Amino acid sequence: MMNYSSRPPEEPAVHAQDLTVVRGPRTVLRGLDFTVPGGRITGLLGPSGCGKSTLMRAVVGTQAKVTGTLDVLGRPAGHPALRTRIGYVTQAPSVYDDLTVRQNLDYFAAILDPGRASADRRHEKVTRAIADVDLTTHADALAGNLSGGQRSRVSLAVALLGTPELLVLDEPTVGLDPVLRRDLWNLFHTLAAERGTTLLISSHVMDEAERCDRLLLMRAGEILADDTPDALRARTGSETVEAAFLHLVDAAITAGRTKETTR
Ligand SMILES: Nc1ncnc2c1ncn2[C@@H]1O[C@H](COP(=O)(O)OP(=O)(O)OP(=O)(O)O)[C@@H](O)[C@H]1O
Ligand SMILES: [Mg+2]
Repeated sequence: MMNYSSRPPEEPAVHAQDLTVVRGPRTVLRGLDFTVPGGRITGLLGPSGCGKSTLMRAVVGTQAKVTGTLDVLGRPAGHPALRTRIGYVTQAPSVYDDLTVRQNLDYFAAILDPGRASADRRHEKVTRAIADVDLTTHADALAGNLSGGQRSRVSLAVALLGTPELLVLDEPTVGLDPVLRRDLWNLFHTLAAERGTTLLISSHVMDEAERCDRLLLMRAGEILADDTPDALRARTGSETVEAAFLHLVDAAITAGRTKETTR
């Protein structure tokens, strides 16, 4: 793979300060400060409902009622210039069941780059994206006839079409078998290492945390830790990231109780 990214990897791809999001009557993200380093894989982990999808939507610019500072690839989140530089795969894969894998990608490639790229160039991009997610032998199968894991890989291929500098993937490995999960994580590492892509990947499966370069651990709209898996384990005296996470949750609950009683 070629390195398409022009950004130095040490520069943060995402920088948030006092990031707050209100949804309906609730504040679902509460004054978050964090950075996502460029050219690396950052895992966003935490239990269901803690705010992972909301944070990702804020980063890609589709979330309403966002306050605080949120810079993405050097621009404020949601800036129109970022649209072609970010790939986003939502939690529910959106592909057209009545089109083949290749037709789905042709369609999205045409939307991404209307009229600009030559037919040959577009064909090349589509072929590469299909190969990236290992669906070459299924390129002419109807998406409706694919397995769940294959369908989610079509969504991922769509996100890879534009050679994004930042790839935001919301629980991309849910429901996949161990072999596919491993293959996808290998792809993520290849994208980071060889194309300089920054990846922000959410999961509530803690063993996936071990595969990330950096972790943001969330709970109830707050960030409990922003660290490397090694540092996190060392700091909490834990063998696994899961144990470290539970340790931090207990500490946060105790701190909360102390605050209550001293008020
Ligand atoms: N439209 C809405 N109005 C009010 N609250 C909402 C709305 N959408 C989501 N929420 C709340 O925001 C919080 C964060 O939701 P979010 O989808 O970001 O969580 P998540 O960490 O992605 O969960 P999961 O792991 O289940 O996908 C949840 O507590 C949810 O109930
Ligand atoms: Mg979610």
